[in-house]
Amino acid sequence: MLATTGAAAFTAPRPGRAEALVAQMTLAEKLGQLSILSADYAVTGPVVPTNVDADVRAGRVGSLFNLWGRDAVREAQRIAVEETRLGIPLFFGLDVIHGFRTVFPIPLAETSAFDPGLWAETATAAAREAAAAGIDLTFAPMLDVARDPRWGRMAEGPGEDPHVASAYATAKTRAWQEAGIAATAKHFVAYGASRAGRDYAATEVTPRTLAEVYLPPFRAAVDAGALALMPAFTDIDGVPLTADRTLLTGLLREQWGFDGVVISDYTAISELLKHGVAADIPEAAALALNAGTDIDMMSRAYERGLPEALDRGLTTMETVDAAVARILTLKERLGLLDDPYVRLSAADADLPATRAIARRAATTSIVLLRNRGGALPLPAAPGRLALVGPLADAAGEMLGPWAGAGRREEAVSVRAGLAAAFPGADISFAAGCPIDLPDESAIAAAAAVAAQADRVLLAIGEAAWMSGEAASRARIDLPGSQAALLDAVLATGTPTTILLFSGRPLVLPPAADRADALLACWFPGSEAGHAVADLLTGAVSPSAGTPVTWPRDVGQIPITYADRPGGRPEEPANKYSSKYLDLPNTPAFAFGHGLTYTRFALADPTVTRGDAIRVTTTLTNEGGRAGTATVFLFLRDPVARVARPTLELRRFTRVTLAPGASATVGFALLRSDLAYLDARLTPTVDPGEFEVHVGLSADPSGLRSARFTLG
Ligand code: GLC
Repeated sequence: MLATTGAAAFTAPRPGRAEALVAQMTLAEKLGQLSILSADYAVTGPVVPTNVDADVRAGRVGSLFNLWGRDAVREAQRIAVEETRLGIPLFFGLDVIHGFRTVFPIPLAETSAFDPGLWAETATAAAREAAAAGIDLTFAPMLDVARDPRWGRMAEGPGEDPHVASAYATAKTRAWQEAGIAATAKHFVAYGASRAGRDYAATEVTPRTLAEVYLPPFRAAVDAGALALMPAFTDIDGVPLTADRTLLTGLLREQWGFDGVVISDYTAISELLKHGVAADIPEAAALALNAGTDIDMMSRAYERGLPEALDRGLTTMETVDAAVARILTLKERLGLLDDPYVRLSAADADLPATRAIARRAATTSIVLLRNRGGALPLPAAPGRLALVGPLADAAGEMLGPWAGAGRREEAVSVRAGLAAAFPGADISFAAGCPIDLPDESAIAAAAAVAAQADRVLLAIGEAAWMSGEAASRARIDLPGSQAALLDAVLATGTPTTILLFSGRPLVLPPAADRADALLACWFPGSEAGHAVADLLTGAVSPSAGTPVTWPRDVGQIPITYADRPGGRPEEPANKYSSKYLDLPNTPAFAFGHGLTYTRFALADPTVTRGDAIRVTTTLTNEGGRAGTATVFLFLRDPVARVARPTLELRRFTRVTLAPGASATVGFALLRSDLAYLDARLTPTVDPGEFEVHVGLSADPSGLRSARFTLG
């Protein structure tokens, strides 16, 4: 029976139980277990789902996704259990990426909180809602480190830093599985390196970058016990991940000890023909199965191709049986072999409590990028407010991409949130222009509304569909006529706060610098309007920081704080140094940048040696309000056998302080934290000098440093 808490949230598999079941199965029944099909509650890929009941009844499928709700799940399960020869139950999957019915901030937003406790809390809350709807497995967490905001799927992931992404992986995987839902680490691996930020494009990733940047979060998820993993659509250096035996079996299973199930991405096995590594479906099926891909999502390649692949000797029945056994073991762990309806007795989640978590998650994830002259928080009597922009009264857009079973009609718009926060206030409204269609016809009227107000709240940015899967943008600017709207509003001279909604950092027009406050709201989820209002009124102080380096221009991409210096690092006065003729190298906002309503200062760190290397600094709240800051600890190995990045994040922690208070912030570095991969990619710790840098972001101008020598 499922435990409700603790790592043992699943049933321990009985040795031999799965293999005994496999021994009773026909080839057709085995191939059915190797297939997962989509129902039509959501469309998440290019092949539109068919009548899955017929497939279930015919034993052509072992698991379903994009179907939820007790009655629908119960009926599909009943067909599998009562109307097939062996009655092997299905498992039900869904992309619960950032919430089920209650939608939390998109993962890129949640990562901005730098708060593993929050990451676990929202996963647990989402798991409770999903379990009550019959979901056994989520296709989450998405763990693709991303440094190219043209790539729309940056929205779904944990930002640019492998250390943060690994903490995110651990928190999410443990929370999902302690709540009794299997987690799927995806998309294995380096999908975020898609060339030119174009989704599904080829990737060129060196073995070092693969090991140091892209693999760590997946290792963390496997070490946290992830029961499933999904390969990326992409290739690395010509080898599609779906067919990459070296990584899926050699590294994942043989080196890391992963004993879960590998589920292909949507039609990815049949797409091996388009990659050009298989001449026909039997070849594609054999390549994927032999590599270690257990379940075929939506290709029907295993069903159609494996019989001929077996006849042609391209794969073996042992390989088929091993994959089927892993799938049956997953079902056993999920409790389904003992009770196919086990999750349908789960109690409904507490909706108001879940909404309260969503509101707090959103206020903790929205980043205050600029607040000139203390423009925010707004005064209690804010005067005449003009709420302008196409994202101001757009409740449905607030859910962002991958909103699961989220209900657009249950989302709170900025307009509704403001009205609730300032009852009786004079708040005028004008959309100004559409989100994406070029249409300037209503801009003049919106500017007129702005001109008569004491402050403008300008809600602009992307529509939810402009990020997420298959949503790469070559220009990451304001869509449609929004730049013209921005110009017109700022031209009125009314003090303006920009509320920016997006699934990625956007490049704003230079005029945006005239806005005295700028909030990166990302897509805050169901409670968006209340959360934005909580921050604008000061009921809650902002505490987030951007988890990705924010480019000034698309020409700077890929951009990260963790670059190697090169032999001619930038020297503004030196022509012969690494820089542009037409832009500074520096980003618009550094990794981790985010303001609060107070002011923090960090002291130079001290380093003491003992069983660990302790780095200690003092954080002081020098302002007049309580606040929460994230303190980052970066390491630099200035001389090593290979060139090392100028900064590597090793620790981060959130600290809340009352006005005027100080606190000692200590980090313990282990010898393993000083390791890097030498030229042969062997972990190495050199004796010699190391630098440690503490800061409230990766902005070099704000770092306080110390050195120590390792004997
Ligand atoms: C999609 C996505 C993947 C998702 C799957 C099922 O194509 O790439 O992240 O889990 O299909 O919806």
